[in-house]
Amino acid sequence: MPELGVNIDHVATLRQARRGLVPDPVYAAYLCEKAGADSIVAHLREDRRHIQDRDILLLREKIKTRLNLEMSIAPSIVRIACKVKPYQATLVPERRKELTTEGGLDVAANSARISAAIRKLEKAGILVSLFIDPDKKQIDASKKIGAGIIELHTGRYSEAKNNEQKERSFNEIKKSVNYARSIGLSVNAGHGLDYSNVRRIAGIPGIAELNIGYSIICKAIYVGLFKAVDEMRELTR
Ligand code: PXP
Repeated sequence: MPELGVNIDHVATLRQARRGLVPDPVYAAYLCEKAGADSIVAHLREDRRHIQDRDILLLREKIKTRLNLEMSIAPSIVRIACKVKPYQATLVPERRKELTTEGGLDVAANSARISAAIRKLEKAGILVSLFIDPDKKQIDASKKIGAGIIELHTGRYSEAKNNEQKERSFNEIKKSVNYARSIGLSVNAGHGLDYSNVRRIAGIPGIAELNIGYSIICKAIYVGLFKAVDEMRELTR
């Protein structure tokens, strides 16, 4: 049974629309935890479009579960992470113009830089996960540079346009989970998961945690955050 990490970035997106104080991502994190979230995920982007530095400090102080800080390997962000010391850092590629994280890290092509960031974060006592596509080459490269955790990008599965694409991407994920586990990696997954597509992914044995944001925050507009998290928790179980 995978655990559920709730990404609260879009609570901050709404707050930043008016540069005000509400809605407060820290209070949202509290409600998510009350509804059964096992960890809280927040992405401190270099352009600070949603989560701000102060949010990370407050989340670190207030949340009772685990803070999973999504981040790029930019030196300024790595420095902040080493100071704040979240429970875990999930390294993601970041492009300024993208609407959301578009693909996994190319670990194979950037191994020296990613490996240096991992070492710094680990030295600060932070667990490190690498967000990668469900692809053997990237899994092998992650293992080679000493990562202990990977998060498989489920975007291709979530965005599949027809059944054939959906089956193909589901099988890629399943095969990748099995392979990564067989070489000793701990495996998380996420991106684009929602109330209609999450059950199949949650049913793959061996996934430790699913990280989900957008669909939960969207549903929360209609039913409230507690109920939105609670329903997702039921589905992932
Ligand atoms: N995992 C990672 C590494 C991500 O970058 C994101 C998006 O911020 C998510 C999970 C959550 O994706 P979504 O918001 O589509 O559920």
